[in-house]
Formats: sequence, C-alpha cells, structure tokens
Amino acid sequence: MLNKKIEDICNRQVEREGYSSSLYLAMASWAETHGFSGVAAWLYIQSDEERLHMLKFIKYVNERAGNAVMPALKKPPDEFKNIEYLFTEVLKHEEFVTASINEIVDLTLEQKDFNTHNFLQWFVMEQVEEEASARLILDKIKLLGKNNYYQFDRDILSLRSQAAGTQPRP
Ligand code: FEO
Repeated sequence: MLNKKIEDICNRQVEREGYSSSLYLAMASWAETHGFSGVAAWLYIQSDEERLHMLKFIKYVNERAGNAVMPALKKPPDEFKNIEYLFTEVLKHEEFVTASINEIVDLTLEQKDFNTHNFLQWFVMEQVEEEASARLILDKIKLLGKNNYYQFDRDILSLRSQAAGTQPRP
C-alpha cells in the first residue's frame, strides 16, 4: 500500500503527464494550422505517449490501493512564435518533467518504498529518450535555418527512430 506522501506525489505526476499531453496537443494544433503537417504528426504522437504516461501512474496508484485523482489541467498556450521556439519549449518542458520524476525517485528512497522506486525506472529511461529527441530536433532546426523548414517538416518523423537509438522502449 502506498503511503500518503508517495500517493500525493504520484497524483502530482498524473497532473504533470496530463498537462504534457494537453500542451503537445496545443502545439500540434498550432503546427497543423500553420502548414507544418509533419511537426503536427510528431506532436500528436507525443501527446498520445504522454497520455499513456499519465495512465501508467493512474493504474499504478490504484493497483497499490491508493486513489488516483483526475486533476484540473491548466490551459496550455495556443500561440507559438515559430518552430524553433516551439521545440525549445518542448525541451524545457521535458527537462521539467525529468526533474519531477527525479524528485519522486528521491522521495521513494527517503520513504523506503522500493516498489514505487522500481516502477519509476521506466520513466527515468523514458526521460533520457524524450530529452534526447527534443535536443536532436532543435539541433537540426538550428542547422537548417528558416528557409529549409519544408524539408525539416517532411523528415521530422524519421528523427523519432533516430532519437530512440539505443534506448529500450517497452
Ligand atoms: Fe511523460 Fe515527456 O514526459
């Protein structure tokens, strides 16, 4: 059974993964309406993945006799200056999520909750991949410059498999 501190911080993560999903949907919608169909497709996939992350936490909390609580999500921005800015925000957000996961890992050690510690290892690895993916895309954008966004938009989905690289996926 989860102790209250672990239950609460896992519920906080339910909210953060839910917001991630919503943020990437907002970005996908912006990209779609600005002619970037490849970027939109990448972000829709990313949004679905974040929803699965949220579900993993919900199911884990309930499985351990806690109560997963559905949070109110704040509204994500609906305007993004340009593609480089958008992916800078993706990377910033993923770094925030990594710090958040690390905080939970830290608490599980303090509370000697080794089951939750074990559950979190998948997320620790996932964050390595998510940050690498956002960094790879930003590097490509910086190399291309604005005039080649067309080619970048066409090729972005193939960067997913490159970023996954040697990282194991479940
Ligand atoms: Fe579930 Fe991208 O953090």
